[in-house]
This record gives sequence, structure tokens and C-alpha cells, in this order.
Amino acid sequence: MEIVIVADYEKVSMLAAQIISEELKKRPNLVLGLATGETPLGTYRELTRLHREEGLDFSGVTTFNLDEYVGFSLDHPSSYNYFMWDTLFNHINVNPSRVNIPKGDASHLDTYCSQYEEKIKQSGGIDIQLLGIGSDGHIAFNEPGSSLASRTRVTALDRQTIADNSRFFSKEEDVPRFAITMGVGTILEAKRILLIASGKKKAGVCAQFIEGPITSQITATALQLHPAVTVVLDVEASSKLKRQDFYRWAMKAREEQFGR
Ligand code: F6R
Repeated sequence: MEIVIVADYEKVSMLAAQIISEELKKRPNLVLGLATGETPLGTYRELTRLHREEGLDFSGVTTFNLDEYVGFSLDHPSSYNYFMWDTLFNHINVNPSRVNIPKGDASHLDTYCSQYEEKIKQSGGIDIQLLGIGSDGHIAFNEPGSSLASRTRVTALDRQTIADNSRFFSKEEDVPRFAITMGVGTILEAKRILLIASGKKKAGVCAQFIEGPITSQITATALQLHPAVTVVLDVEASSKLKRQDFYRWAMKAREEQFGR
């Protein structure tokens, strides 16, 4: 894993958007995996700015989101579909027919999940997948104990995740108990993975997933098995890493040798 430590949330967002925009410029038909939550908001703001001010072109992009709450219709204000249109898609020139977000109110959920997987395959697979990390170490909604080979499916949310995500709802009881999520195995098939994290509250879990043993109890540790992962952290989120000195030294050496 390539570990990049930057000063603060703003810099995490700038760098993540820059990495995505470089991929997009190389490949105008990019298949882009996206996440929701608080962490990617700055990245989406910067991608919007790059589109508006620098003409970054999303017209050929296909997107796949990681997850959606079960039972929520597309227009539910707390749905991830609503979130994605509100924070990104309405502000860039993405083709709506190329946007894919799991449908929380699909009638046959198991069939629907297999179809979602099939659609990812038919698109040629995800070129770059943006991820955040939950305080329990989840990626997408792969809660502790999820198989590291899991595929897109319906899963129960952990109590910790329900408590964490209650900030997006008027009360905790309104947070759905189930979600559709890409599996860990699905995520590991992306060609490149970009995980972003910021703030002290993520420091413990970042140290565990980057430097701890691989375990289904912290599903983000499965990323250690992927050959092309970039982790962008701010100083606070990196504060419990044991090998900080090495990551900083390697960053500096990369900059000197390759310009980044
Ligand atoms: C969201 C998702 C989750 C979040 C994680 C962190 O689509 O898949 O895994 O990335 O819960 O959320 P924030 O960024 O709100 O801390």
C-alpha cells in the first residue's frame, strides 16, 4: 500500500480529486467507484470545481456506488442516491444513464445484487474505487465478520455504524438496519483503490488496517492483499501509525525521484 500523509482534510480532498482527475484524463471512459459519507465531500467539491473551472469532462464516465440503505427509494432525502446527486452528479456532466447506485427498494434484493455485480463486470470492471473507512474498520458496509471474499449482498449494519451514521438522520431509530453493499471480494477486483481518511477519530482504525494483521474483524485489512492501493490520510488520521517515519521518507523519495 502506498501511504500518503498530508496536512489536513482539505489536502486529503485535493489530492484524492487530483488522483481521480489524472485517471480520468488518461481514460475518458473511466469506470469510477464512489463512496458516500462525510469524508468524500471535499473530494466531490474539488471534482466539481475541476469540472466547472478546468473543464474536467465526465461525459464518458460510468460510476458505481458502493452501497445503499435497504428500503429507501431513490428520492428519499437520506438515501445515498439523493446524496450522490446532491453532492456530485448534479454539478458535473455525468451521463445519468451511466450512474449506478444500488436500488434500496428493489423488489428481489438477492437477484438485484447479482445483477449489480454483473453490471460491474459488463462495464469492464472498476478502474478506480474511492473508499472511506468506518470507525469499526468497514469498507462499504462490510461490517466486522464479513467474509473477505464477499460479494454484493444485503447485510445488517453494526450497532456502531448505526450510531455513527445517525448524524445524517433526525434520530438513531431512523437509521435503516440493513443495506445493500458491494462485498470485500467485489472491491478487491477494482484495478486501483483510493482510500481516504481524516481526523483523530480514524487514527486507531487506520493504524489497525494499515499495520495490523489481516482479519475479517476489520474488513479494510483485506486491502493489504490488493496490489494497487493508495491511502491518503491527514496528520491526525495518521497519528497512530507506527511506521510514520518510513511513510514520510518514502513520500519524499518518490517526490524526488518521480515528481510525486
Ligand atoms: C459509504 C461507505 C462507508 C463510509 C464509512 C466512513 O458509501 O461505504 O464505508 O465510507 O462509513 O464514513 P464517513 O466518511 O462518514 O466517516
